[in-house]
Amino acid sequence: MSSDNGIAVIDLADIDSGPGFKRICEEVAKACEEWGFFHIINHGVDMSLIRRTQKAYKDFFHLPKEEKKKYAMTKVYQGWYSPELYDDSDVKKFPLNIGNTSECLYYIVLSDNPNHETVFSLIPPDLRPTLLEFTKEVAAAQERVLAAMSVALGLDAAALQKRCESIDVGIRANYYPLQTEGKAVGEILPHSDLPAIVFLFSDTVPGLEIRKDGRWVPVKPVPDAFVVNVGDSLEMMSNGRFRSVEHRATGNETEERMSLVSFYMPAKAATIDPIQELLDESHPPQYGSAKYGDMLSALISQRLNGKAFVNSLKIKS
Ligand code: OGA
Ligand code: NI
Repeated sequence: MSSDNGIAVIDLADIDSGPGFKRICEEVAKACEEWGFFHIINHGVDMSLIRRTQKAYKDFFHLPKEEKKKYAMTKVYQGWYSPELYDDSDVKKFPLNIGNTSECLYYIVLSDNPNHETVFSLIPPDLRPTLLEFTKEVAAAQERVLAAMSVALGLDAAALQKRCESIDVGIRANYYPLQTEGKAVGEILPHSDLPAIVFLFSDTVPGLEIRKDGRWVPVKPVPDAFVVNVGDSLEMMSNGRFRSVEHRATGNETEERMSLVSFYMPAKAATIDPIQELLDESHPPQYGSAKYGDMLSALISQRLNGKAFVNSLKIKS
């Protein structure tokens, strides 16, 4: 099935049956090669949990700015971020490329990092339990999709997850307040995402656009679906077969918009490079090799700039 602009809508309802999984792998392969983006329905993440999570985030974003400032983004790049508040701070260097009227709240929710408990305790208490439950369910769905992607590449179902080693899952809520006339519309500027895969839930308010053959294509919302996209790390691991595509987003003047974005990130120590089994004489490696943590630091220091970062890791032929 595909939505009216050609971006696939993949139904995961029968992912646990042999024929269902095979069909899903074929659809995933096509979507990742052509678009780098697709929708999933019947994704297994409980809708009432999604609604509770949305509500908890909206309650936070609707607080007065003075309250939200208590959770202001720290040097570990977690917390609340609003560009207008950070003119002179080095937090401004964070590569969020977020327009002046948008806000976001970002935390790494799942991690094996021994210091993680301290970070977790920074999450607003009213959000914390729901967010933990939400992130666990989304990460499980991300692993089901990653298994389909692995098989789609001709690998073992566990291959991509294994390559990520111990993962971190970060959730970023982007908030685009209702815009009044004459005020610039909140936005996230063009970028690609560094992680392996990314799930986005933005409900039925449009605003996300992806770059396809040099043109910006709006992603038409599909009710109750997650938008899935290939990250730069997966593009590299798949040796360019799966595409990490540039995207951007805006708010609007008729409805406030909020997106919940789940970043499934390889361990900082994981080596990101083309998977050996995908290489042969006619498929030489297209990318060099780098540790995920080093890629992340480089990205933070360069700021996001379209796909410039992943392209800089390409082997010149
Ligand atoms: C992101 C992103 C798009 C959106 O957070 O990386 O691309 O619709 N967000 O908010
Ligand atoms: Ni993004």
